[in-house]
Amino acid sequence: MILLTGATGYIGSHTWLELLLAGYQVLGVDNFVNSSPKALTRLESLSGQKLEFIQGDVCDPAFLESVFQSHPIKGVVHFAALKAVGESSSNPLRYYENNLGGLITLLQIMRAHDCRNFVFSSSACVYGDPDESPVKEDAALRPENPYGQTKFMSEQILRDLEKSDPNWRVAYLRYFNPIGAHESGLIGEDPMGVPNNLSPLVARVASGRMEELKVYGNDWETPDGTGVRDYIHVVDLARGHVKAIDYLLSGKPSLTVNLGTGVGYSVMDVIRAYEEVIGRPIKYQVTARRPGDVALYYADPSLAEALLGWRAERSLKQMCADSWRWQSQNPMGYES
Ligand code: NAD
Ligand code: UFG
Repeated sequence: MILLTGATGYIGSHTWLELLLAGYQVLGVDNFVNSSPKALTRLESLSGQKLEFIQGDVCDPAFLESVFQSHPIKGVVHFAALKAVGESSSNPLRYYENNLGGLITLLQIMRAHDCRNFVFSSSACVYGDPDESPVKEDAALRPENPYGQTKFMSEQILRDLEKSDPNWRVAYLRYFNPIGAHESGLIGEDPMGVPNNLSPLVARVASGRMEELKVYGNDWETPDGTGVRDYIHVVDLARGHVKAIDYLLSGKPSLTVNLGTGVGYSVMDVIRAYEEVIGRPIKYQVTARRPGDVALYYADPSLAEALLGWRAERSLKQMCADSWRWQSQNPMGYES
């Protein structure tokens, strides 16, 4: 059985479904700090299975102890974390406490139960503002905000743990920019409060929930002057986790890989792709650059292909079409 922490969140819910489709038995846990229990009902109807889920906090050792005592967990995919970059700068202690505290507690309980296969949700933000793109896994690591620091420090903790005991097998998955939703329109990204990321904001403007999009600068050193990122469809990303679990459970050694498409798209490319999907213009206004943003980065995903046999398949247009299906069928997210 595979334990998913943060299982009802955006990437967790899509990964849960893909693991079930691949034949894995899955137990999900989440404290709903940034997700809705309604995702569970949607996942049950999509998978046609009764889900195994327990509500709880990964910072709570007694909770995790009871989970491991009552289930034969062979591997863990650890999504549970807080992820708002801006809030991590205004309230860093909350981020260090939750993201590092949760990780350490989980690893201690895993060790006590002799479970040492671990998939970690890392992020391209560990690279900060990379010197060159495509970014390879051996690029310098210099995270630029407390959230990014928690991912960098988590990687360090795991590497030290591996050094202390070679029985640990860890997949460090560095995600680029996940967007899109399951093609059914039943599960998707449902951020609490006002979103900060490009894709949910474009979706809100498209649906009329927001007046216009702010484009944060068109004077960057990029082909059209707007920021360039490596957007990856969340279902492709979810399948990367299935490959990582297959890989670890087959006894292969730890690995660190980028999960991206290898292609950079600008903010204007995303707006245009979305316009094509909805058949109308997206209203936007170019404003000043957002503090902390960088011009451009995209992944070199070739190591993930070589080691995991995984490659992202879905196009930017498909990401926008699936994002729009989710948004238009669920204008208020899971509360619709
Ligand atoms: P999300 O907020 O949708 O999902 C995270 C889930 O973890 C939520 O359901 C939340 O309720 C839960 N959670 C948080 N703290 C918890 C705790 N202490 N105990 C139990 N549950 C807890 O975020 P996501 O986009 O699905 O991200 C999943 C993982 O991937 C996170 O670790 C995130 O940092 C990482 N990541 C995300 C992105 C991105 O752009 N979405 C990029 C790189 C890395
Ligand atoms: N952007 C706008 N207007 C907006 C929001 C974003 O123009 O309203 C631009 C940004 O300037 C940037 C691009 O759209 O050029 C993407 O911005 P996002 O906020 O969607 O994503 P980021 O690349 O800034 O960061 C995201 C997550 C991080 C994660 C990183 C890499 O927020 O947590 O991807 O995975 F670390």
